[in-house]
Amino acid sequence: MTDRYAVIGHPIAHSKSPSIHAAFAAQTGQDMSYEALLAPLDGFAATVAAFRAAGGRGLNITVPFKEEAWRLADSLSERARLAGAVNTFVIGGEAIAGDNTDGAGLVRDLEWLGCRLDGARVLLLGAGGAARGVVLPLLEAGVSRLFIANRTAERACALQVHFAGHDARGALGAGGWHDAAGAAYDVVINATSASLSNQAPPLPAGLYAPGSLAYDMVYGRGLTAFLGQARAQGAARVADGLGMLVEQAAEAFALWRGVRPDTAPVRAQLRAATPPLD
Ligand code: ATR
Repeated sequence: MTDRYAVIGHPIAHSKSPSIHAAFAAQTGQDMSYEALLAPLDGFAATVAAFRAAGGRGLNITVPFKEEAWRLADSLSERARLAGAVNTFVIGGEAIAGDNTDGAGLVRDLEWLGCRLDGARVLLLGAGGAARGVVLPLLEAGVSRLFIANRTAERACALQVHFAGHDARGALGAGGWHDAAGAAYDVVINATSASLSNQAPPLPAGLYAPGSLAYDMVYGRGLTAFLGQARAQGAARVADGLGMLVEQAAEAFALWRGVRPDTAPVRAQLRAATPPLD
């Protein structure tokens, strides 16, 4: 019998996950289906329960349900526990295991883009859910510096405290935009939601090291205000979050099926259908 998977969110109609997972399944010869499930804003748990009762084997969870998924899961991976959010359910006979593949997706995409994270100096902009989800995988990738800067400095400092137990190298720092000044970074990652209103965080000059990469987690918006500002401030390269989207999906697929798909053709296909960064 074909195994059922789905992405659940509100709204969900424009999700790219069904086509990504369909491509992975075709490529790896897995007998599975993957659909988009619209859950009412007050009906996440009921929608999950119905999907499970119908034999569903796994779910991806997207906006606005990732925190609720974290609370609903019977068990959590360490990275999901620390992220405070779940984007993947592995549904077993007895229990639902919650995981979060967003951070691993970002790390894989950065590697795919040719960034050497071991020893890298990274500036992470934002202190909400998107930022929180990537801190542990970046630390585990061996960055030498991870400065979290946020409009509300206290939220960044709270994240530093939250992850202190995983910061054996003393890489973490935190503060407001101007506390990031006076140092240069190899990678600057925008995890704020400012790009959704095409605004750029007001960053001080001089943050971009020679050869550095500016990375915006949003995708499908062309050259965002943040990426434009990064170019003007000296970033050597810019990237959007389309690769992260594909890589977090591949990570979830591997959790479910035990097979890691080749992301290259799916990346190329989505890139061709997305506004260019130039
Ligand atoms: P998400 O899940 O997308 O991270 P969130 O938890 O609401 O959403 O967090 C939004 C993040 O974007 C926060 O870091 C927020 O800064 P504050 O903590 O100061 O609110 C940041 N943000 C939102 N709009 C912004 C803007 N116009 N400029 C800079 N930062 C912004």
